[in-house]
Amino acid sequence: MKVLVTGGLGFIGSHTVVELQNKGFEVVIIDNLSNSSIEVLDGITTITGVKPHFEKIDLREKSEVVRFFETHKDIAGVIHFAASKAVGESVKEPLMYYENNINTLVYVLQELSKLEKQNFIFSSSCTVYGQADELPITENAPVKPAESPYGNTKQIGEEIIRDTCKINSQLKSIALRYFNPIGAHPSAEIGELPIGVPQNLVPYITQTAIGIREQLSVFGGDYDTPDGTCIRDYIHVVDLAKAHVVALERLMENKNLSNYEVFNLGTGKGSSVLEAIKSFDKVSGKKLKYQIVGRREGDVTAAYADTTKANDVLGWKTKLTLDDAMASAWKWEQKIRNK
Ligand code: WQD
Repeated sequence: MKVLVTGGLGFIGSHTVVELQNKGFEVVIIDNLSNSSIEVLDGITTITGVKPHFEKIDLREKSEVVRFFETHKDIAGVIHFAASKAVGESVKEPLMYYENNINTLVYVLQELSKLEKQNFIFSSSCTVYGQADELPITENAPVKPAESPYGNTKQIGEEIIRDTCKINSQLKSIALRYFNPIGAHPSAEIGELPIGVPQNLVPYITQTAIGIREQLSVFGGDYDTPDGTCIRDYIHVVDLAKAHVVALERLMENKNLSNYEVFNLGTGKGSSVLEAIKSFDKVSGKKLKYQIVGRREGDVTAAYADTTKANDVLGWKTKLTLDDAMASAWKWEQKIRNK
């Protein structure tokens, strides 16, 4: 069956394409290459032996979205990753984020509604919870006012899908709220490709270890946590990718309990920044250079998932550890720097 993956050359998108192909799906990728590179297509093909069909389309162009869906009426499912995702950038460029993350979602849903099969997986984020009052975080935790336009686009996106599902019973959708995706495919053929200075922790760690960055700045050592640094739920991108296939199959097999469902995707284990560094040192044999500096605006103290619903209802759980993820991220960094 044919599945459309928008943003399929991105970090999580590319890993999901691999898992879809491993399950025998025919994959069509749409990507505008604004935050990814065409070489990722070769990486996917090297891993699976099957080159996905790729179309360079900017989903902000409604006419291009209409044309695409008119030529692919046999799409059986859509996994929608295409969006901008840098928290800091979104604060500086809110309208760019609302155009790129909201307009595109509306256009895709409008054209999807014309197809016979309407199975839609939405890439959401634990960012919607802000600093949750209770840990671990369940799907019933209140969605709090977003701390950034990026986070707001995820909240708005979920509301758009929920409202559309209410009036279109043919549309079945699942929103997947990721915690912190890290790592790379064990083959080191695909991985995270941050453009410019990495905003996220793990690519900054691996770029420091390989010598591109002088040292890691740990943003804050005075939080109310055991070692004073922030706690996050770091989930291996391959585990995360597999969850997308499970969610899509759930809809295709009509196992969903309602036509709009939400699942948290995490390991259920919180790790501090210093614990993440310790894990990296252990798997790489390096001694990461870092210094503790002031807090970063907008960071929450702690966030990690309650995985009960994903485990018991979705029927998915993580298998890979923080060490596995760090080892794969390091292997990938060395590969792309040819070291
Ligand atoms: C993790 C921890 C930082 C960099 C964001 C988005 C989320 C998702 C993942 C898109 C925090 C600390 C980081 C550094 C550091 N993005 N850190 N030094 O902020 O939890 O989540 O990225 O979907 O939606 O909100 O991830 O990797 O930026 O930070 O000390 O150089 O590492 O303070 O505690 P975050 P992160």
